[in-house]
Amino acid sequence: MGKVVVCDHPLIQHKLTYIRDENTTTKDFRELVDEVATLMAYEITREIPLETVRVKTPVAETDAKIISGRMLGLIPILRAGLGMVDGILKLLPAAKVGHIGLYRDPETLKPVEYYSKLPTDVTERELIVIDPMLATGGSAIAAIDVLKERNCNQIKLMCLIAAPEGVKAFTAAHPDVDVYVAAIDDHLNDHGYIVPGLGDAGDRLFGTK
Ligand code: PRP
Ligand code: URA
Repeated sequence: MGKVVVCDHPLIQHKLTYIRDENTTTKDFRELVDEVATLMAYEITREIPLETVRVKTPVAETDAKIISGRMLGLIPILRAGLGMVDGILKLLPAAKVGHIGLYRDPETLKPVEYYSKLPTDVTERELIVIDPMLATGGSAIAAIDVLKERNCNQIKLMCLIAAPEGVKAFTAAHPDVDVYVAAIDDHLNDHGYIVPGLGDAGDRLFGTK
C-alpha cells in the first residue's frame, strides 16, 4: 500500500482555508493554489535522490550534494491540474511537463480521456501527477493507467483536497503510488462533489462559472 501523506504545514493549512472560501476571487484563488503547490512540492520532493559532487568555495574544496539523474516530470490532469504547475516549477524549473486531458462525465461521474501529450523520455523520470481534487478517484486512477500503459513506474499523486472515498479507490487501484494531499475531507455528496471541499476547482481557477 502506498503512503497517504497529509501535508499539514501551518502555511498550507492557512492558505487552504482561503482557497475553500466561496468569497475568494478568481485572482486570489489562482494565486493561493499556486502558492500551496509550491509548498507541497517542497514536501513531495523530500526523498528525491542526491549525489555527491566536488565544489570549490572561495575558502576550500569540499564534497556537496546535487539532485541525481533527470529532473522530475509533472503531469497535470487538464484542466484544473494546470493551476498547480507553475507553483511546482518555481522549485523544479528543469522539470518537463506532460498533459493528460480528462473530464468527468456529470451523469456517470466516469472520467473521459480527450488528450495526452507526454515528454519523450517520460519512462526515465519520476512523475508527479497533479490535480487539485481527488473525489471519486476516477480521474486520477485513469491518468495513472495512461502512464502505466506507457511503462512509467515511478509515480506520485499530488492533490489539494481528497474525499475518503477517493483515497480508498485510488490506493486500491494503484497501491504503488504515494499520495500527497493538503486535506482529506468528510465525504462526497450525491453529485460527486467533495464536502466541504472548495466547489469546482476548474471553474474557480478559470472563472468559468
Ligand atoms: C475535476 C477535478 C478532477 C476530477 C475529480 O475535474 O479537477 O480532475 O474532477 O473527480 P473524480 O476524482 O471523481 O474523478 P473535471 O472533471 O471537473 O474537469 P475540469 O478540470 O476540466 O474542470
Ligand atoms: N471536482 C471538483 O472540481 N470538485 C469536487 O468537489 C469534485 C470534483
